[in-house]
Amino acid sequence: MSAQQAAALASAPEEPTSGIIDDETAVTPAVLSAMSHTPNPRLKEIMEALVRHAHAFAREVNITEEEFQYGVEFLNRIGKATNDKHNEGILFSDAIGFSTLICLLNNGQSSKGAERETAAALLGPFWRMNSPVTEHGGSLIRSPTPGPQLFANVRILDPHGKPIEGVEVDVWHSSPVGMYENQDPNQADMNLRGKFFTDAEGRFSFRSTKPAGYPVPTDGPVGDMLRAQERHCFRPAHLHFLCYKPGCKTLVTQVFVADDKYLHSDVVFGVTSALVGDYKLHAAGETAPAPDVEGDWYSFSYDLIMEPGEAKLPVPPIK
Ligand SMILES: [Fe+2]
Repeated sequence: MSAQQAAALASAPEEPTSGIIDDETAVTPAVLSAMSHTPNPRLKEIMEALVRHAHAFAREVNITEEEFQYGVEFLNRIGKATNDKHNEGILFSDAIGFSTLICLLNNGQSSKGAERETAAALLGPFWRMNSPVTEHGGSLIRSPTPGPQLFANVRILDPHGKPIEGVEVDVWHSSPVGMYENQDPNQADMNLRGKFFTDAEGRFSFRSTKPAGYPVPTDGPVGDMLRAQERHCFRPAHLHFLCYKPGCKTLVTQVFVADDKYLHSDVVFGVTSALVGDYKLHAAGETAPAPDVEGDWYSFSYDLIMEPGEAKLPVPPIK
């Protein structure tokens, strides 16, 4: 026995008396007893609940040994499918509604002190740090990106309607063919991404192309799950925003295009009624904010509400 093993044995709590299992009813109490000395109270609470619910789940549906093996292999495949450019774990969590549940529990009316339904939504898998700082009214189009032009005007307000100046806002979205620049060799680095700072009226504005909806990746285990459930794999079109200012709770959100055919069936359950945006169609020939606009174009106006709270940036899902 190594010195490390001996030290671990010496510091181990007494064996629980219920550690010998007589039948399936003894398993859950034995595991809870074994974990009962966990010093970190939050870890203890989470792990005890996880064990109780996991055991109850297995009992409810009478998981067979083959199904258990399949489930373990499914989790292993999620790990193997995850890399610097793709996060299958997040995708799985999104596709079973768990990510949105966590978002709404922590930001919606269920959240401590919240007085209104939240403007927050999923971060998604495509946020990158260090988007290029862009002037007011500047363009996010950094390489040729055919599609209807979009002119966006956004305000950031506090819960009382007062503008918030100096908010750092990252904007990113898919192209009119439904691809983010990091997925698409035809787009320049950081195409359709930009960073803005709100002015004294809480405003920022930009020009881009109208985003399109897109399929989530289906070449991994999550794709197998969607096919087995006869679900489509599409997200409705949206703009992403990440709003950051010390003293304000960081706001991560998406604003959706109302006439998208997948608005009511987002594969990752990200659409809340507060986040359906007003993307106005303007016919070709109607005077646009820029002289070089050809064909139909869109305008978009939206107010985002930031609550007081802690400013912290999420971990970028991709490098
Ligand atoms: Fe997205």
